[in-house]
Amino acid sequence: MEHDRARRALEAEVEDLAGAWRLGDPADPALRATCAERLAALRARWRARPDLFTGASVERLREVARALGEPARSQPSLPLGPAAPSRLAPEAAREVLRSVFGHADFRPGQEAIVSAVLAGRDCLGVMPTGAGKSLTYQIPARLLGGTTLVVSPLIALMKDQVDAMARVGLRAAFLNSSLAPDERRERVRALRRGELELVYAAPEGLEASVGEALSGVRLSLIAVDEAHCISHWGHDFRPAYRNLAGLRERFGAPVLALTATATPEVTRDIVRQLGMSDPLLVRGSFLRRNLRIHARKKGDGLTGQDAVLRLVQARRDRSGIVYGLTRRSVEATAAALRSHRIRAEAYHAGMEADARARVQDAFQSGVVDVVVATVAFGMGIDKPDIRYVVHRDLPRSIEAYYQEIGRAGRDGAPSDCVLLYSWADVMSWDRMLDEGEPDVAAWQRGQVRAMFRVAEGEGCRHAALVGHFGEDALDCGDACDRCTGEDVLASAPAVARRRGRVRPGRGERAARRGRRGGPATEGEAGGEDPRAAELFEALRAWRSGVARARGVPAFVVFSDATLAGIAAARPRDRDELSEVSGVGPRKLAEHAEGVLAVVRGQKIFDQ
Ligand SMILES: Nc1ncnc2c1ncn2[C@@H]1O[C@H](COP(=O)(O)OP(=O)(O)OP(=O)(O)O)[C@@H](O)[C@H]1O
Ligand SMILES: [Mg+2]
Ligand SMILES: [Zn+2]
Repeated sequence: MEHDRARRALEAEVEDLAGAWRLGDPADPALRATCAERLAALRARWRARPDLFTGASVERLREVARALGEPARSQPSLPLGPAAPSRLAPEAAREVLRSVFGHADFRPGQEAIVSAVLAGRDCLGVMPTGAGKSLTYQIPARLLGGTTLVVSPLIALMKDQVDAMARVGLRAAFLNSSLAPDERRERVRALRRGELELVYAAPEGLEASVGEALSGVRLSLIAVDEAHCISHWGHDFRPAYRNLAGLRERFGAPVLALTATATPEVTRDIVRQLGMSDPLLVRGSFLRRNLRIHARKKGDGLTGQDAVLRLVQARRDRSGIVYGLTRRSVEATAAALRSHRIRAEAYHAGMEADARARVQDAFQSGVVDVVVATVAFGMGIDKPDIRYVVHRDLPRSIEAYYQEIGRAGRDGAPSDCVLLYSWADVMSWDRMLDEGEPDVAAWQRGQVRAMFRVAEGEGCRHAALVGHFGEDALDCGDACDRCTGEDVLASAPAVARRRGRVRPGRGERAARRGRRGGPATEGEAGGEDPRAAELFEALRAWRSGVARARGVPAFVVFSDATLAGIAAARPRDRDELSEVSGVGPRKLAEHAEGVLAVVRGQKIFDQ
C-alpha cells in the first residue's frame, strides 16, 4: 500500500518536472536552475529507492537531463554538476548524513571538507585515525552525480569498504586484479552506464587496466585516501601514488586527499605530488579524549608478556589489538593468550597473504577478540568497537604510535591505550634499523628516541602528543595516567594459570566493573548509572544474537556507542529511538522492534 502510494507520488513528481520543462523557455536560466535542482533530487531518490521508479519515469528524467545538457556541450555535467549541488550543498549534505548514514551531526572538519568538495575545490583533509574521513567523499559521491573514484592502497579492505557502502545503500564496487574477467567486465559496464556512485581502486591498478576502464566515465571527484603513501616522509611510501597527478589532469575532476599523518613534510608532499591547485587545508584536532592513555616501563620484574596477559584478561570478550616489535614475540604472545582461552591470533608480514586476510576477517567479524600484531597490521581497519590497544614494546615513532592507538575507540566510546616500554626496546629497534640505508636509519633512530622521550615525559600525555603535532591543548584531566595517577596494571589482577574457560556471568561482570571502576568498561554503558549499565549489557547480548543469526559482525547491527546511547536514553518508542545518534532510518526499520523489546525488559535472545 505504502509502496504504491510512494510510487504514484513519484510518478506525479516526475510528470510535473517534465511538464515544467516542456512548457517553459529552455533558455531561461531560472527555469534551468530549478529543473536541474529537481532533477538532482529525483536522481538521489532513484539511487535510494530504485524500486519506486517505473521505466517510463526513468526515461522521462533522462529526456530532461539530456535537454538540460544540450546547449552546454562543453560541460556535459551541467544538470547534475557543480552548479546545482553547490547551492544545495549544506542542507543536502546534512540530509545525506542523517538519512543515509544515520549520524545526527558532522564531526569536526567533516562539513568544511564536504562543502569544499561539493563546490568543486581541491581539498586536503588531515584528521586523526577514526575521525571520519571516509564520509567526506561518501557524501559527495551521493550528491555530485557521476562517479567518485576512491584511490586506496588497501586492496585487502576494499571488499569490506564496498560491503559497508552497500549496507547504507550506496552503489559501490572495487576494481582490482583479484576479479575474474567476467565479473570485471560486468563492473566496467556498470561503471560506464553511470550506475556506480563510488569505485575503489589501488594506485598500482590505475597505472594499468583499471586506468583504461575509466575511459568514458564521468568522474566527479578523485578521493585519494591514505594520501601520505605518496610521500617518502610518511611511513608507508607507495611509488604508484606518484602517478595520480596525471589522473587528475586527465579527468579535470577535483581532488580530495585524506590522511591521518600530520607532519608538515608529508602535507607539503601531498599537495605538490598530486598537483593540487589552491587546495583548502582542513586540519582536524588530533585530540582524542575517549582514548585513555597509560604507559608503564618494563623491568623490575614486569615483563611485556605478563603485563599483556593481565591487561587482556581484565578485558575478556572485548576487542583489542596488541602490538609487538618482532614476529617472534608476536607469535609467542598470541600463543600465551590462547593458552588462557583468549581468542587471539598473530598477524605479521611474514605470514602468507591469505592467512593474514583470514585473521583480519575473523577479527573484523568478532570471531577473534585479539590480534597480536607487528606494525604490519592496522592501516584502514575500520572496526569501530576496538576497546583497547596495548603496545607490548615501544613503537617506532610518535606518528606510528598515534596511528596505532587511533584504531581504538573509533565509535567514540572510551577505550584504553596501554604502552609498555623500555630502553631495551630502543636498542632492539637500533639493531633492526641497522639493516636499512644509513641516512634513513639515522632519521628513524631519532624517531624511536623521540617516542621514548614521550613515554618518559612528565605532564599530560594527551597534551604532549597533540603538542607534537603542533597543537596546543590543556591537560586532559581524566584521560591519562599522568592526570589521574591511576596505575592501569593495578586494576588488572595478576594472572593465575588456569584450565578451562571461566566466563563470569552477567551479574558478576557488572559487580567486577563496579569494583574496578576502572577503564575497561566504565563510561561505555553511560557512566555511573547502574541501570544503564545493565541495559547496555542486555542490548549487547541481543546484538550478538542478531549478528549471529545474520552472519554479520556485531558492530554492523549497532556500534557500542549507539548501544550506550540507547541505554542512556531508554527510548519508549520509535520516535525516541530515532533520536539516538547512530540510529538511521534503515536501522530503525530493521531493529526498532528488537531494541524496544529489550528496553522494555523482554529478552528475545538468551545470552
Ligand atoms: N559524523 C559522524 N557521527 C558519528 N560517527 C561517525 C561520523 N563520521 C564518521 N563516523 C564513524 O567514525 C568511524 C571512523 O570513520 P572512518 O573510517 O572514516 O575514519 P578515518 O578518519 O578514515 O580513519 P583512518 O585514518 O583510520 O582511516 C566510522 O565507524 C564511522 O561510522
Ligand atoms: Mg580511512
Ligand atoms: Zn592527561
